Amino acid sequence: MGRVETSSSLTFDWAAKDRVYIWHPYTQMLSAPSAIPVERAEGVYLYTADGRRILDGISSWWVNIHGHNHPRLNRALQEQIGKLAQVIFAGFTHQPAVRLAAALVKCTPANLTRVFFSDDGSTAVEVALKMAYQYWRNREESQRKLFVALEHAYHGDTFGAMAVGGVKEFHCHFSDLFFEVRRARGVESLEEILKRESGRVVAVIVEPMVQGAGGMLIWPVEFLRRLREVTHHYSIPLIADEVFTGFGRTGKMFACEHGPIEPDLMCLSKGLTGGYLPLGATLASEEIYGSFLSEDHTRTFFHGHSFTANALSCAVALESLALFHEERRLERVAQLEQLFRERLDHFRDASIVRETRGIGALAVLELEPQKQAGYLDERSAVLGQAFLDRGVLLRPLGNVLYFLPPYVITDDEAHWVFDVIEEVLESLHVSPP
Ligand SMILES: Cc1ncc(COP(=O)(O)O)c(C=O)c1O
Repeated sequence: MGRVETSSSLTFDWAAKDRVYIWHPYTQMLSAPSAIPVERAEGVYLYTADGRRILDGISSWWVNIHGHNHPRLNRALQEQIGKLAQVIFAGFTHQPAVRLAAALVKCTPANLTRVFFSDDGSTAVEVALKMAYQYWRNREESQRKLFVALEHAYHGDTFGAMAVGGVKEFHCHFSDLFFEVRRARGVESLEEILKRESGRVVAVIVEPMVQGAGGMLIWPVEFLRRLREVTHHYSIPLIADEVFTGFGRTGKMFACEHGPIEPDLMCLSKGLTGGYLPLGATLASEEIYGSFLSEDHTRTFFHGHSFTANALSCAVALESLALFHEERRLERVAQLEQLFRERLDHFRDASIVRETRGIGALAVLELEPQKQAGYLDERSAVLGQAFLDRGVLLRPLGNVLYFLPPYVITDDEAHWVFDVIEEVLESLHVSPP
């Protein structure tokens, strides 16, 4: 066996070796430029090994809310690591998990009473889908095999999550293996599906208020309310996937509060740990939970992950929740919403901009599509590079350009990003078709 080159080997050019050893996510490895080597991060900035400073305009894939390298989160991690990093969570428990579960039950809709921990957003969704499916089996309604999801939905990249997802570019290679899903285009279409097939439906899954990866599509609050009314009417569990929208992104702690609505299952991740560590949580209603309680052990929820409720992640998540309240994040999000609205207004008449929209700490500029609309719009790589060249990380979803920074961004920094966007759009002379 060869010598293991660690980060302490002075001769190890780790940034160059990335190309040799690593297969990156959502990356065409044949043609993508080399990955940017990040050495450290602080607040809203990433600092690279080659001396650049880049403003993190997408909160590092939508996870970071308090900024990078936050002293309070660092301290929570250090304190916990001296006590317990990880322990099996079947038959064992620990203080950070119990405290976090109690805090989550307190701040989410009142009907959600039980917390099941997992690792990330996809597993939080996977757990919700499986809980809903087994719920009906526990009630001896095993004819229910059909899920209902929205067009343009994105719920993650594991098989169940892909099956309910509706972004064909991401998951088309796997579709032969998916379970049956009906796709609703809006509330009328959902009503039609439920009218016809409610007796076969397991659950309806939705990203409340904003569909993220499907194009940052913002829905009116009325849609959310009607969705809940219709699912209630047919007694179908509603799964709210708040992996992206949770923890303030839409201006409320959880997007369901806009309704307000109470879903039967809720999926959380990303901002749960302030974007520090991987952790997923699926919250369930007492009715769903209760259906699993039985002398018959086959009704057990046979699901778990090695790192379920990792103690470090839970400790940081607790501190993140405390910070959220103490540093008044929702107030900051409301200010950002106002600033974003004013700046977005300036783009309204630009010929290349088809539509601007925003909610909470999310600003969206949908550009006129070029040859290939959607995620594969060639412009996204060009735009992404132009922003990076100017020191901003923005990663357009095809022709949809969006800005969603950590909430601790200052007004000046946010204005500067909008200035950069203006400059880039002008300089590229992106013309309408
Ligand atoms: C709404 C939604 N659900 C689930 C996921 C999957 O989360 P993860 O990437 O942590 O698996 C994402 C990720 O972007 C998401 O936006």
